[in-house]
Amino acid sequence: MRPLMNALDLTVDEINELIDLAEKFIQEPTRFSEVCRGKKLATCFYEPSTRTRLSFESAMMNLGGQVLGFSSADSSSAAKGESVSDTIRVISSYADICAMRHPKEGAPLVASLHSQIPVINAGDGGHNHPTQTLTDLLTIKNLKGRLDHLTIGLCGDLKFGRTVHSLIGAMVRYPGVRFVMISPDELRIPDYLRKDTLDAGGIEYKEVNVLEDVLPELDLLYMTRVQRERFFNEEDYIRLKDSFILDRKKMKLAPKDMLVLHPLPRVNEIATDVDDDPRAVYFKQAQYGVYIRMALIMTLLEVIPEC
Ligand code: CP
Repeated sequence: MRPLMNALDLTVDEINELIDLAEKFIQEPTRFSEVCRGKKLATCFYEPSTRTRLSFESAMMNLGGQVLGFSSADSSSAAKGESVSDTIRVISSYADICAMRHPKEGAPLVASLHSQIPVINAGDGGHNHPTQTLTDLLTIKNLKGRLDHLTIGLCGDLKFGRTVHSLIGAMVRYPGVRFVMISPDELRIPDYLRKDTLDAGGIEYKEVNVLEDVLPELDLLYMTRVQRERFFNEEDYIRLKDSFILDRKKMKLAPKDMLVLHPLPRVNEIATDVDDDPRAVYFKQAQYGVYIRMALIMTLLEVIPEC
């Protein structure tokens, strides 16, 4: 019984195996449509979600399993004061695997320590979002053909954006990866990532304020929204929310094969006139989230048949 709290809980080889399996689903989504027959996935979401919760549920249904759960703290007994550890003890007797999102950093980890079933961190506060990272890796590998020797632009809210934190941690394990961090000064990456991950690993990176200046050098541009729900005051959010808006005009400065990713939801940071650009792959990325979660569920439930 193995939890997944952080993409770094998986070795590079294990991630490659997940990607290989997920790529089989890209080719043939109905493959292994019975392997989870009789199994149940619980989705315990204490914070809003569209993609993560529904793609987990879609993934389990595609594998022949069933789903149960709640989509907000208000609709669970958390509203009456129940602890996460008590909740997971109970869920352990209702389901075979659990995906949990929580606004508090570390809450899914606490749950995993009291669980009899594998718990997957589906996003904990501003900390980590490992299944989004696996989705991002699958998207990059499948559409770019490699995970190494890439210049990756990370743009927007790099302070609170947990998808960015998880992605940096995962991508530094591949050779030749360099980062260009594009953010307002107030929303730069946290110090712990700069010191413990980038500086300690000798990873090449730079931090800039102007998107247009760096677009020509990027292989990938990972856009993020400013995370309104993590701000302490609304004035700061309003001042910073439109710091970067990628539009068709700016896309003319980017290489012809640069991919644009975004974990979504989008607010204003990518104009809709970019959506038809073949380099804009964020909706395909959301679709790939189903396939990598299928691969993850199968792996954690140990139901992988001989292929
Ligand atoms: N990317 C992502 O986590 O989206 P949701 O918040 O809709 O799950």
